Amino acid sequence: MFAGSPANADGPSANAIASAHPLATQAGLEILEQGGNAFDAAVAVTAALAVVEPTGSGLGGGGFWLLHRESDQKKIMIDGREMAPGFAHKRMYLDENDNVIDRASLDGPLAGGIPGIPAGIVYLAMNYGRLPLQSSLQPAINYAEQGFSVSPGLHRQIESSKESFKRYPSSASIFLLPGDVPLAGSILVQSDLASTLRSIANSGFAGFYQGEMASKIVQGVTANGGIWTLEDLNNYVVLERRPFEITYKDIKVTSASPPSSGGIVMGQILKMLEHFDLESMDHVSRAHHIIEAARRAYRDRGVFLGDPDFAEIPEQRLLDEDYIEGLALTIDPLNATPSDKFGELPEPRSTGNSTTHFSIIDTEGNRVAGTLSINRSFGSKFVIPGTGILVNNEMDDFAIKPANPNSYGLIGYEANSIDPRKRPLSSMSPTFVESKERIGILGTPGGSRIITMVLLGILDFSSGQLPESWVDLPRFHHQYKPDLVFFENNAFNQEEQQALIARGHELRESRRLYGNMQAIMWDKRTNYVYAASDKRGEGSALVKYSKDEINTDN
Ligand code: GLY
Repeated sequence: MFAGSPANADGPSANAIASAHPLATQAGLEILEQGGNAFDAAVAVTAALAVVEPTGSGLGGGGFWLLHRESDQKKIMIDGREMAPGFAHKRMYLDENDNVIDRASLDGPLAGGIPGIPAGIVYLAMNYGRLPLQSSLQPAINYAEQGFSVSPGLHRQIESSKESFKRYPSSASIFLLPGDVPLAGSILVQSDLASTLRSIANSGFAGFYQGEMASKIVQGVTANGGIWTLEDLNNYVVLERRPFEITYKDIKVTSASPPSSGGIVMGQILKMLEHFDLESMDHVSRAHHIIEAARRAYRDRGVFLGDPDFAEIPEQRLLDEDYIEGLALTIDPLNATPSDKFGELPEPRSTGNSTTHFSIIDTEGNRVAGTLSINRSFGSKFVIPGTGILVNNEMDDFAIKPANPNSYGLIGYEANSIDPRKRPLSSMSPTFVESKERIGILGTPGGSRIITMVLLGILDFSSGQLPESWVDLPRFHHQYKPDLVFFENNAFNQEEQQALIARGHELRESRRLYGNMQAIMWDKRTNYVYAASDKRGEGSALVKYSKDEINTDN
């Protein structure tokens, strides 16, 4: 799934979009053709994904949009991450004996943070776009109103969530109509969601967070065990945050800052790796060093990272040259360092079906990397009656109890404990990479593994490869705990697996391929724009210049 086209020397003469669904990519291109810029296209793609990829993101979720505006070279991260409701508290998912109540932070509306995606798209349109929301939301409204064809992947996902949907008539009436899982190829209509999108198109922030819509949302959530209030909705705020920036060799990496852990963890890994000559290593040694660096960075993630508005994040200390060198020095080139002597934790479940990512570049050189989520596949599985909004289960990204692994197996402590209005720590890592000659835009879903997937993509960019290679790369991952190297079956052959085991690594082959990377690169030397959509997913990457499409996929 790869596309490329020549661009001119002043800036890309091509628009390019890669997203997890062909209809979302198409929605973005339509908006660019109507005279919108990359930011308008990002609004259109975000809204379209909310309709056609309900497993990954939606109006009931949150996300980060990393922007580059060419006219003034401004780089900024739009933080539309969910916020904990006002009645949230540290013990809300624990019983009287301090035991975690099974699935309480995952199922139903109590698992949901206050959504940020609607506010995010309004903010993007008002502050960076040039088209009215009525235009940029129209493709999504059409997909919701007229329906879209259920893909084989969506069919499978609905099938595996069937029993959960049955618990909520409002969810079953959309996803199980007329009583069972819609077949691939059948048309899924979401009329209530179309009305909600129209309300945002007509009234902006107020069309979701205030008035009649807010009352409907709060009533639906509280009637089903949730704790959202009108005040929570009205008080939701989008924040502009300084993105995380670091250099790796001659490459500038711009990525998500807290409340995402993505940038800092990636930064620590890259800086540790600068102490080694990866290029001269064989595959096993290279993987060993990446794994060991990831082990150390994910340990710091668990201990130190959280919402920067609530916890003091020691970013400078974590990236201090001496500190990083000290960590790098503890990497034994031949032997794994055991994370600790605790028992094994369950394998984190992350297949790439939850969360979503898209990448965009327009002919002016504006760029967007957007990673959006409702956390697990279909979030909490609860649709707010009469709205079409699937509520996220992002509260599970908090450390609901110190050192208790979340659904990705990640642990956390006080920095990521629950507090009212706090944002849960994320791994979402929308990223730009820049060398003198090349500009890349990338990101992926995949929970805790997002960071290592993007890291492998950056290293591949650094080796001079194209987006098709970044997204195709066989993947492997380590996150400190559990002390396991997860790998896709084509990442290491038998001999390489034995060599890693001989170094002391415990390997765990992932049940499925994981991730769904969407990537774009503009090569200024050849004036080509390349885009690639991960073959593991069902997305599409298009590069379009003048009136013609070149090398489209799907
Ligand atoms: N919900 C996944 C993440 O934000 O990391």
